[in-house]
Amino acid sequence: MSGDHILVIDEGTTSTRAMLFDEAGECLGSCQRALTQHYPEPGLVEHDAEEIWSHTLACTREMVAKAGGAERIAAIGITNQRETIVFWDRRTGKPLAPAIVWQDRRTAAVCEAMKAEGHEPTVQAKTGLLLDPYFSGSKIGWALRHWPQLAEAGENLAVGTVESYLVFRLTGGAHVSDATNASRTALMAIGSSGWDDGLLELFGVPRNILPEIVDCAGPIGMTRPDLFGGPIPITGMAGDQQAATIGQACLDEGQTKATFGTGAFVLAQTGRRLPQSRNRLLATVCWQVDGERHYALEGSVFVAGSLVQWLRDDLGLIGTAAETEGLARSVSDNGGVYLVPALSGLGAPHWRPAARGLVAGLSFSSTKAHIARAALEAMAHQTHDLKTAFAADGADWAELRIDGGMVANNWMAQDLADMLGIEVERPHFIETTAMGAAMLAGVGAGLYPTLHAAAAMRRSVERFAPAIDPAARQVRLDGWAEALSRVLQ
Ligand code: G3P
Repeated sequence: MSGDHILVIDEGTTSTRAMLFDEAGECLGSCQRALTQHYPEPGLVEHDAEEIWSHTLACTREMVAKAGGAERIAAIGITNQRETIVFWDRRTGKPLAPAIVWQDRRTAAVCEAMKAEGHEPTVQAKTGLLLDPYFSGSKIGWALRHWPQLAEAGENLAVGTVESYLVFRLTGGAHVSDATNASRTALMAIGSSGWDDGLLELFGVPRNILPEIVDCAGPIGMTRPDLFGGPIPITGMAGDQQAATIGQACLDEGQTKATFGTGAFVLAQTGRRLPQSRNRLLATVCWQVDGERHYALEGSVFVAGSLVQWLRDDLGLIGTAAETEGLARSVSDNGGVYLVPALSGLGAPHWRPAARGLVAGLSFSSTKAHIARAALEAMAHQTHDLKTAFAADGADWAELRIDGGMVANNWMAQDLADMLGIEVERPHFIETTAMGAAMLAGVGAGLYPTLHAAAAMRRSVERFAPAIDPAARQVRLDGWAEALSRVLQ
C-alpha cells in the first residue's frame, strides 16, 4: 500500500462532506456542500441523487488534491444518512426518480394498514424495527407502485441506500450495501446475512433490484481510475449513526453515544447480543467485520438540529444557529415555554408519524430568547425520554458520549447533563461520524488490526457533570410531560 491518508465521504441529510485524515487520526482538511431539500408536499422529503453524486465527486476531488493525488490515499470510508432510498439505472448509474428521504412520511397510511393487519410483531421480531415510514421497505414498495419509470426500467433498475448508490457510481457498477445500512431497510432479518423473502413480499420489493450485503470493513471496491487520477480502494462503510458509535469508541457493551445532527440518535452497544426492546426502541447492526456482527439498541429522534435550522431559515427568529446559546443564557429559565419538535412526526419512543409540533405556555412576557431556550431544552427532554425507555429495557446509561454539530453549544451540553442526571462526555473533535468511517476504512485497509486499535485515532474529551437544582429539574420534566401529552392526544 502506497498511501497513508484516509479519505472519508460523509453523506449527511443536509450536506455532503469529504474529510481527509492522516493515519493517526489528525483531520487534515474538509470540504462541504449543502444538499437541496425538496418538500413537494407536507410530510414529503426528497433529494436529487444526481446532486448527491456531483457534490460527492467535487468534495472528494478537492480532498484527493489536498492529499497530493490518489496514490497518497490508502483507503476511502463512506458513511451516510440511513434509510434514504435511491433508484437508478444500472447501465448509466443515473437516478430514475427522486431519492425518498428517511424523514419522508408518505407511507404512514401503508404502515398503519400493515399494523392493523397485525404485521408489526413479526416485523419487529425479524428486523428489530417497527412499522413506521422511517424505514426504507415501505418507501421502496410505494415507489414501485407509483413511479411507472421504475417498472419500465425492468432489469436495469437498481435500488439501494445512499452508500450503495455512491459505491455503484464510484466503482462503476458494484451493487453492494453494508450490513448496518441493510439493517435499516426492514427487508433484512437482523440475525441473518441476507434479504428475507417474507419481508420482501410484505413490502412488495423484488429481490433482484437490491444490493448484495457485505461487511463494513474490507475490500469493498476500487474507484474508477478516471475519477480521481488513479484507483483508490473503498474499505469502510457504515450508516452515520453506527459510524458515530464507532468514532466515539463505544466498542464495548453498555457504552452509549448520542449524536445531535439533523435528528438525534442514541445507540447503546450490546456486543454480540441481539437486543430485543419491549419499550419501542430499535435493534440495529452496529457493525459487521469479518462476518461477525455487533449490535446496538437505538433510540431515533427525528428532529434535533433541523429545529434550529427551522427557527433560522423559516421563522427568521435567529440569524445563526450559534446565537441560540447566548439567547438561552440571556434568560434565567424557559418562562414556562415548552417546545415539542414533532415537525415530522415523533420517532422513538412514541412512533407517531402524524403528530405535529407544539409551542406551549406562551404569554406576553415570552420573548424569542424563551423560544430559543425551549428549542434547546427540547433536546434534553427528548433524550431524557429515551433514557427512560433504555432503562426500562435494562440498558440504562452510566454516562453519555455526545457529538454532532449541535453539541458545540456548551449550554446545551450542560443542560443534557443536568436533565439526564449523568456525566456527559464531549470529544474535542466532534466529527465522530467521519472518525468512525475512518476507523472502519483503516481496519479494512489493514492499517489497524481491530477497531479497538483504531480507536487510538480518538483524541481528548471534556466532561459535563449534572449541577441543576433537583426541584428546578422536576419542574422542567413536568412541564415537558404536560406539553408532550397534548401532542400525543
Ligand atoms: O437515520 C437517519 C440518520 O442516519 C440521519 O442522520 O446525521 O443526517 O441526522 P443525520
